[in-house]
Amino acid sequence: MFYDAVANNHGLALDPFKALVAPRPIGWISTLGKTGVVNLAPYSFFNAVSEDPHYVMFASGGRKDSQRNAEETGEFVCSLATYDLREAMSRTSAGVGPDIDEMRLAGLTPAPSRLVQPPRVKESPVAFECRYWRTIELPGRNWAPSGNAIVLGQVVGVHIADEAIVDGKVDVTRLKPIARLGYGDYAVIDAVFTLPRPGAGRGAPQ
Ligand SMILES: Cc1cc2nc3c(=O)[nH]c(=O)nc-3n(C[C@H](O)[C@H](O)[C@H](O)COP(=O)(O)O)c2cc1C
Repeated sequence: MFYDAVANNHGLALDPFKALVAPRPIGWISTLGKTGVVNLAPYSFFNAVSEDPHYVMFASGGRKDSQRNAEETGEFVCSLATYDLREAMSRTSAGVGPDIDEMRLAGLTPAPSRLVQPPRVKESPVAFECRYWRTIELPGRNWAPSGNAIVLGQVVGVHIADEAIVDGKVDVTRLKPIARLGYGDYAVIDAVFTLPRPGAGRGAPQ
């Protein structure tokens, strides 16, 4: 099948787009409101976009609390959403007011960050401390404003649970990250395979 993606006339019961761009990593974004209240929410329009220095992005469908807080305070933290934390991650997607501490609401523990103010999720084995860089507004159909935006931040600190490091490498099967698919579906990374890159010498970075 083919469909006009601007008209979005796919003819299916549900929009297939997000099922086709899958799996998507989940950035579990913690920020502080102006009054210091902890905000935590999952974003699957999330990814790493640069390696040196490290940048990550998340995209907001409308100017939600995470975007507003990142812009207003200049900082955010991305914790890794793992299989063990899946229920808590889902709880933090509920739309609650900016005066509610969503980390505590989900039964999670705030752990202090080293270089930025927003706490990371203590129960999560990985966290990226980020300094907000800029927001890119995404135009809508016919280039009219859409309200959707990409929020970019430079990673300034990385936490990794010691147990996840085996022989000097991160063993992702110990982390069991979850990823978003389409509809209400998720995937868990619990198996990996390795593929040598053509031209890369033995022992060279892949
Ligand atoms: C797994 C998952 C991924 C999500 N990804 C996004 C996303 O990429 N962009 C977005 O705007 N909302 C996303 N949402 C919805 C937000 O988490 C939800 O609107 C949340 O209340 C936003 O919180 P905030 O206002 O505190 O930022 C996602 C929800 C779930 C459960």
